[in-house]
Amino acid sequence: MLKRSAINSSIATAKHYLKKYGLHLPPFASWTVEEWNHKGSECDEIRHCMLGWDVTDFGCGRFAEIGRTLFTLRNGTLREPGYAKSYAEKYILDPEGQRAPAHFHRGKMEDIINRGGGVICIQLTPWADDEERSGRRFTAQVDGRRVELTPGAVIELMPGQSVCIPPRTIHQFWGKCGTGYTISGEVSTVCDDWNDNCFLEPASRFPEIHEDEPRAAYLCHEYPPAAPGFGLGAATIGDILKTQRP
Ligand SMILES: [Fe+2]
Repeated sequence: MLKRSAINSSIATAKHYLKKYGLHLPPFASWTVEEWNHKGSECDEIRHCMLGWDVTDFGCGRFAEIGRTLFTLRNGTLREPGYAKSYAEKYILDPEGQRAPAHFHRGKMEDIINRGGGVICIQLTPWADDEERSGRRFTAQVDGRRVELTPGAVIELMPGQSVCIPPRTIHQFWGKCGTGYTISGEVSTVCDDWNDNCFLEPASRFPEIHEDEPRAAYLCHEYPPAAPGFGLGAATIGDILKTQRP
């Protein structure tokens, strides 16, 4: 089980390094539990597209080695009507040595970008269901440049560099030891964490949490339902426009 204290502390660390590297978050990154409890349906995009903080140990109980602290800035979803975005963007805190379990995506294509700090190591292997194909060399796009790799090769990305990971490519990435905290970014097609992830080892995407201290922030799968009476109906949008007139 992942302790709430570890989640709170990791979010605080992420905020620190995002600020340090000049990466700014939208206001909802700092909304408290109390503030969220009064947010109405005007914030449904944040709830339905699972924007915001996302901290997990993938159910393994070894957060320092297998875990992720992410902030989803934008995403779409087909689970609810009205969110047609076909793209997503995240920031990811990469402490030295911590990584997500090896996985691939059925449909999502993602670019992983080193946004600042140390060095990101990314291991790539195209998914193959037979041995002959599994040993074959393949190509990847690194900053618009085609590179030829052997399966399992590890690419190192310096700040500003990025690699494109096509669907059905097994990948794992982590902050290189000795280079400090890194913030990576992910720009991708829409992210569907309920259906699109294939982990090579058993893993649960959202953790069981041991509530050893009060939560400092809701995670993206924990938001309370919209508070009644605080939603934005059509009439209130008109009211807002009125208030913005000089
Ligand atoms: Fe991924």
